[in-house]
Amino acid sequence: MMFQENAEVLHNECIGADYYKIGLKCVSDYSIAKPGQFLMVKIADAPLLRRPFSIHRLLALKGKQQGLELLYKVVGTGTKKLSSYNAGDSLDLLGPLGNGFDIPENMKGVFIVGGGVGIAPLFFLASFLKDKGRDLSAFRVFIGCRSDDDLLCRGDFLELGMSVQFTTDDGSSGEKGLITEPLERAILQQKPDMVYACGPTPMLRETARIAEKHAIACQISIETMMACGMGACLGCVVHSKAHPDTYFHVCKDGPVFDAKDIRF
Ligand SMILES: Cc1cc2nc3c(=O)[nH]c(=O)nc-3n(C[C@H](O)[C@H](O)[C@H](O)COP(=O)(O)OP(=O)(O)OC[C@H]3O[C@@H](n4cnc5c(N)ncnc54)[C@H](O)[C@@H]3O)c2cc1C
Ligand code: FES
Repeated sequence: MMFQENAEVLHNECIGADYYKIGLKCVSDYSIAKPGQFLMVKIADAPLLRRPFSIHRLLALKGKQQGLELLYKVVGTGTKKLSSYNAGDSLDLLGPLGNGFDIPENMKGVFIVGGGVGIAPLFFLASFLKDKGRDLSAFRVFIGCRSDDDLLCRGDFLELGMSVQFTTDDGSSGEKGLITEPLERAILQQKPDMVYACGPTPMLRETARIAEKHAIACQISIETMMACGMGACLGCVVHSKAHPDTYFHVCKDGPVFDAKDIRF
């Protein structure tokens, strides 16, 4: 099911550096959304049609689903414009789109790996699992970022009772280096049943390589450029590993894929 509506902006808060959280009051029932699904957002006066953003969190009031929240980084014209929206403004949303993460019943150990703003859909995944009554004690979160200013959602994951490890490229906080290094160390100590990842392509490539090397199931959410968002252009294609001449549309076939299916 997919909805289109003009949602009311509840808040649009700068959470440091160029990152914002925008809360949207929705009439549509987004409780049907799966973690990893995204919205196409029409930003007034921004060129081209819509911009894709992952659902970061569902908002509930007195237990009743009320809307959702997006976590975004200002990178260009559209996101700059989005950052100027105020409470009470309205924003045209289309969603939920895409396939979302597959969540097997019998997982015990789960490692969640986020790079930069790629952490956005992974928080929805963790809170969804918590709401479903999953025991998160053997779930671990690994966050990689450029510097301390780019470290997102650490407190949110800690509040869910998950252990969080993070790295920065410049060593300004946490361990200096790439997040895939502590990830592989942790896998060597205790192999999880599943790795979920979202972030820049080099991080996804290395995460997929490590998961395959240790024979662990791995799902990745890919954030390519998107023009139409509905399979009508070639703006978002990624190539199949098994059949290099064929490709997937991230907007229609993804954004979540089994890491083994993708040729990076
Ligand atoms: C499925 C999906 C989910 C996404 N979820 C989020 C999210 O939760 N939070 C978030 O901040 N962003 C997310 N993105 C990326 C987001 O859509 C882009 O950052 C946004 O469209 C940029 O719009 P803009 O007009 O500000 O940038 P533009 O002016 O169009 O471009 C500015 C710069 O950003 C680069 N850029 C644009 N789009 C992307 C992209 N998709 N990936 C990498 N670089 C890009 C351009 O190459 C250019 O250098 C997601 C993308 C996809 C495909
Ligand atoms: S964005 Fe046009 S086909 Fe995916």
